[in-house]
Amino acid sequence: MTATTTANSDAVKFAYWVPNVSGGLVISKIEQRTSWDIDYNRKLAQIAEQAGFEYALSQIRFTAGYGADNQHESVSFTHALLAATEKLNVIAAVLPGPWHPALLAKQVATISHLTKGRIAVNIVSGWFRGEFQAIGEPWLDHDERYRRSEEFIRVIRGVWSEDNFSFNGAYYRFENYTLKPKPLAPLPEVFQGGSSRAARDMAARVSDWYFTNGNTPDGIRAQIDDIRAKEAGTGHRAKIGVNAFAIVRETEEEARAVLNEILEKADPDAVKGFHHEVQNAGNASPEREGNWAKSTFEDLVQYNDGFKTNLIGTPRQVAERIVHLKSIGVDLVLLGFLHFQEEVEYFGKHVIPLVRELEAAKEREAVAA
Ligand SMILES: Cc1cc2nc3c(=O)[nH]c(=O)nc-3n(C[C@H](O)[C@H](O)[C@H](O)COP(=O)(O)O)c2cc1C
Repeated sequence: MTATTTANSDAVKFAYWVPNVSGGLVISKIEQRTSWDIDYNRKLAQIAEQAGFEYALSQIRFTAGYGADNQHESVSFTHALLAATEKLNVIAAVLPGPWHPALLAKQVATISHLTKGRIAVNIVSGWFRGEFQAIGEPWLDHDERYRRSEEFIRVIRGVWSEDNFSFNGAYYRFENYTLKPKPLAPLPEVFQGGSSRAARDMAARVSDWYFTNGNTPDGIRAQIDDIRAKEAGTGHRAKIGVNAFAIVRETEEEARAVLNEILEKADPDAVKGFHHEVQNAGNASPEREGNWAKSTFEDLVQYNDGFKTNLIGTPRQVAERIVHLKSIGVDLVLLGFLHFQEEVEYFGKHVIPLVRELEAAKEREAVAA
């Protein structure tokens, strides 16, 4: 089977996590044939676009919290991957605070011109107090971080689309500012990461895309329902992306055995350290519904709860679960892998074509009904 992208804009989209930080996507001492260096990542991006992935998501970290001793900066790394590919869209993760929106708007406008408009941004609001302290950035409380992120998003969009842009906010001020050149049209897409009430409020108001941690279909559906209720009557509709750590093998037993080995070889001190830090994120939101608020030790071995989505099994099982996610309103699946290059290629050969077949069959059923 070969990977096919489909002209159908309703088709579920695939993104992969760019391993631009060391240590892979699981906090485990299991062998991972994944590297954070640029040569590995350029080749991975080329494999991914051939395999049918439309997006890649870079990560931003300023310091190592647990593992991840090395972290390449996201915007410059994003540009390098865009320069090495033809059609992949690469999403650069950005933290308000360290970034000023004028700087980001300008960086992205230029990269948009350099790469035929294939850059997008992921506005992340910060979970790691130690990181902010280390670089002398004030650590705002949870909901205030989101208030700042919302202003940040309003401002970058204003700067990208208007001349003589003025803004008088609690965090940012602009006066008659005209950015030239503006990014190529259509405007770069704005993603956001996080799952708390504040995150859902922000998605319902300003973001093009809501990225959430791995979860069960019921857990994801509850978030989507909440966002749709908040959006009612506004005309805004955020698209939904869900994280998953994919382990796809010929048999379910093989896939489960890999998961067990990841968990058995988990690095307990690093996972506990991470758990302690994410208390500043998920549990810090007033209603305690943020990412990680309910995560167990095992969930956290994949640091964005990617096992919970359960894309672990045979190509058919995984394809069926993806189509089920689509049926509850998921537009994009964001994937992490143990051995990225091999597994992205395998996913493109064995899973994406099955997803497209299942989607087509559902469409035929709908037309016949
Ligand atoms: C898909 C996804 C990607 C994220 N990427 C980053 C990142 O690169 N850097 C970062 O500091 N936080 C990242 N985050 C964390 C969130 O931005 C946010 O700080 C965290 O989820 C806590 O917010 P919450 O309480 O709303 O869940 C990411 C979250 C998600 C869901």
